[in-house]
Amino acid sequence: MSSTKKVYVMTGGNIGIGFECAKLIVAQPNVHLILGCRDTQRGAAGVKNLEPFLANGSTVEHKPLDLATFASVRKFATELAESQPQGIHTLILNAGLMVFSRRMTVDNFETNLQVNHLSQFLLVQLLLPLLRKGHATWPEEPSCITFVSSSLHQPGTGRGKGPELTIENIDGSKEFDGMVMYRNSKLCQLLCMFTLAASLENDEAINVNAVCPGFIPTTDLKRDSGLATRVMMDNVLSRISAASTVTEGGERVFKAFTEGRAKNGGYFSKGEESQSSDESHDAEKQQFWWKWSSDVVGL
Ligand SMILES: NC(=O)c1ccc[n+]([C@@H]2O[C@H](COP(=O)([O-])OP(=O)(O)OC[C@H]3O[C@@H](n4cnc5c(N)ncnc54)[C@H](OP(=O)(O)O)[C@@H]3O)[C@@H](O)[C@H]2O)c1
Repeated sequence: MSSTKKVYVMTGGNIGIGFECAKLIVAQPNVHLILGCRDTQRGAAGVKNLEPFLANGSTVEHKPLDLATFASVRKFATELAESQPQGIHTLILNAGLMVFSRRMTVDNFETNLQVNHLSQFLLVQLLLPLLRKGHATWPEEPSCITFVSSSLHQPGTGRGKGPELTIENIDGSKEFDGMVMYRNSKLCQLLCMFTLAASLENDEAINVNAVCPGFIPTTDLKRDSGLATRVMMDNVLSRISAASTVTEGGERVFKAFTEGRAKNGGYFSKGEESQSSDESHDAEKQQFWWKWSSDVVGL
């Protein structure tokens, strides 16, 4: 068994569900956690807030990562390749947002789609060699990639319509509904997760899974909503039986790459292995969106 600290990389993690999961990661002995954060001060605050939870021999740091630009994703991956020659043991794609007005990124993609799906799709592809190295360093179990998904990829869950994932309206230029765009981003993420899982089927080095942390109205994911919605989420929806706490959300994500690590291509929800939407299992759509995503991120 290697005596090198196991390296975990998480996107976001300075607040919210990711932060709760990060607390559980660093409470394990002998791990090193790297948070990819878009804001230096918020990243530093996240690291400081994690320090009381560090187990013996464990460490945490943050590095710059803005998922709204592919250049930042590439820089983050290059930096990790240089600083982590032993590889990565676990990669958690946690960062996400829900944007309700049509905003394009510097790379000219709709913001929900780029931050929630395209940039993290690119990051995974760039980090596969490091995850392979990680398995060579810690061969007792596969390296693991975990996407933080959402049950909102499924039609009929939550309010409003969608998803409506079409190439014709991928940028929201024909019709814009922020919730539909969020749902589309999570569906696209899941379609590509299943394609990646199929490509890793006979590969002992890496497993990939997705997890929905539950409905957690108290996080900052709603920051782009109006005041009335934010107040209702914090004070009313947080009390309904379908709601979970942010701590429970973090525990579910943690469980997906600890207890769920042996699984490849799994979808976890409410803390158990579950069934994602029929559309997410459509093989033609999986191939289509994998190829489209690869092309537009420049792979
Ligand atoms: N809350 C729910 O009910 C729920 C349900 C299902 C799935 N999820 C998913 O769970 C994940 C975490 O969400 P949360 O509820 O914990 O929300 P949150 O509290 O708003 O946390 C979101 C995290 O993503 C980071 N982030 C946002 N945009 C970024 C960018 N451009 N580059 C890098 N990092 C960025 C944020 O960083 P800053 O601090 O700098 O903003 C923060 O660390 C998301 O993927 C979300 O879709 C949430």
